[in-house]
Amino acid sequence: MCGITGYIGGNKTTEVLIDGLKRLEYRGYDSCGIAAVDSKNSLYLKRVSGRVDALEKLVREEPVKGSHVGVGHTRWATHGAPSEDNAHPHTDCTMQVVVVHNGIIENYLDLKDKLLAAGHKFKSETDTEVIAHIIEEKLKSLHVQEKAMRADMLEPVFFEAFRRAVADLRGSFALSAVWAKCPGMILAARLHSPLVVGLGKGENFIASDVSAFLKHTKRVVFLNDGELAAVRKDGIDFYTFQGKKLAKEPVTIQWDSTMAEKGGYKHFMLKEIHEQAGAVENTLRGRLLPLGGDALKAELGFTAEAMRGFSLVQFIACGTAYHACLVGRGLFENFGMNAYADFASEFTDRAKLLAGGALVVAVSQSGETADTLFAVSEARAAGAKVLAITNTVGSTLTREADYVLYTHCGPEIGVASTKAFLGQLAAIYLLAGHFAAARGHLDKTDARRYAEELLKIPRLIEETLEKEAEIAAIARGFSSSEHFLFISRHINFPIALEGALKIKEISYVHAEGYAAGEMKHGPIAIIYKGMPLLAVAPSSRVLALVAGNVEEAKARGADVVAIVDEASQKVVKASRYIVLPRTDELFTPLLSVIPLQLFAYYIALAKNCDIDKPRNLAKSVTVR
Ligand code: M6R
Repeated sequence: MCGITGYIGGNKTTEVLIDGLKRLEYRGYDSCGIAAVDSKNSLYLKRVSGRVDALEKLVREEPVKGSHVGVGHTRWATHGAPSEDNAHPHTDCTMQVVVVHNGIIENYLDLKDKLLAAGHKFKSETDTEVIAHIIEEKLKSLHVQEKAMRADMLEPVFFEAFRRAVADLRGSFALSAVWAKCPGMILAARLHSPLVVGLGKGENFIASDVSAFLKHTKRVVFLNDGELAAVRKDGIDFYTFQGKKLAKEPVTIQWDSTMAEKGGYKHFMLKEIHEQAGAVENTLRGRLLPLGGDALKAELGFTAEAMRGFSLVQFIACGTAYHACLVGRGLFENFGMNAYADFASEFTDRAKLLAGGALVVAVSQSGETADTLFAVSEARAAGAKVLAITNTVGSTLTREADYVLYTHCGPEIGVASTKAFLGQLAAIYLLAGHFAAARGHLDKTDARRYAEELLKIPRLIEETLEKEAEIAAIARGFSSSEHFLFISRHINFPIALEGALKIKEISYVHAEGYAAGEMKHGPIAIIYKGMPLLAVAPSSRVLALVAGNVEEAKARGADVVAIVDEASQKVVKASRYIVLPRTDELFTPLLSVIPLQLFAYYIALAKNCDIDKPRNLAKSVTVR
């Protein structure tokens, strides 16, 4: 999973490519590179093992002369260690064809064997490099008298060689190629990995995601699976993999590039934690009242009758989005509706067992998570209807799903998901409320009360954020702890899982989330004197049980921080408290996760970790 940029047009090629790569670093950041064609039609290639800042420095020291076209790449290693040799772009033997790629070429070993037998020399361990050599082979097989032809006359030849090369590939790819002999055109192809083209004036862009070029243009065309693009400075043509020309209309993106900047915060993660009230507000706006009314139904394409017809709701997702699904399962069950939640990556066989009439709810911030997309295709093959909850307009998931419910959180850049989680929860609360009203589990009065309580949440989030300094102080006190436990029950159990995930991913310390009642069945054995244990214990029907589980942990030496409200603080005996504003127990996850996000943030800050780009991770996981 990697980020791709491409540019053709003016004379700012390396600037645009590098700026785009910086914005795509969340997709992978173990190595990066750019290639451009210079004014003499020679290839300029710079790559580094490491971050885009290092690449930028190198490009400044040794700039390209007069380039109008190029491609760039930031990598998250799949085949071959993170190194300069394995960094993209990759070239053919002639150093004329250059390729950047996101995805996995499943048949690359077969292809490589054939290419080696034909005399090709490889310079990397990547699957991607085969693509450059196949294009070289296809160009040869077209028997063109290159020297006798003008560069623009070579464009149909390059296109055909690229198209034929793509036909040989199996697996998943978003790829882009440039041929130095034909610098008026960049080619791009997509299969199971995102790719979008941006339309400028006298210049055009290619990227894995719009944030790479939003400051230049908001007019974009998303490529679908099986589509190619021939991008010139003054026009773009789209084709199927079979070479049939396609008419595709641009759409206008509403985000602006400053929405993706840090806005005075030290890290995107902290900024995004502080944007959560807005994320919930925007996701709920205009969709809640009256519950059971038509606003959301019109958007989804659901009627109340359809909502009554589904036999069960099956949530699928990965990581943080999966934790949102677990809350969703609890909510639906609370209303007496059948609901299940599974990791998308563990769903394959279960998909085949889906009962007729199942609604699969796939939750994904990016809408590009390969595990989730695969699970969706399995679910659809089994005959289920799929509803996508996603933050990303035009993402693959939106095109694979029958229904789409957008969260309106704005771009989330920090690898650790925060505001997107709150947006997912808000969307799930909306959905559960509408289902419950349509199916008669909420009468009119209760539906109104549910909606009113939910509408209070953005204000309560702001109040919760006022505890930041207290939370930071508590976190600093634990910054050298090597193990953390998070416990809760019922609708807040997923929040314990999320609290542990947040610490693990940005602080690299061991943390576990447990169902509080499960502790005594084994995990309690790991408690030692002074071990930090965070108990999520707002007022609820399970409060007495959670308080009992806290006592059991304390008796074994745990140092307990309790996330409570004023009433539950009187019941739970802890050494420190984070006191949240009161809300109905059903809505407590929307608040209780916030202190855990801040706690993780301040632990990571004290440890001086790379909070927005934690090691080994990428924002969008587009491999299975
Ligand atoms: O884009 P998605 O919501 O599908 O991503 C799913 C997970 O990869 C993601 O939530 C991941 O767990 C985050 N890094 C957690 O902070």
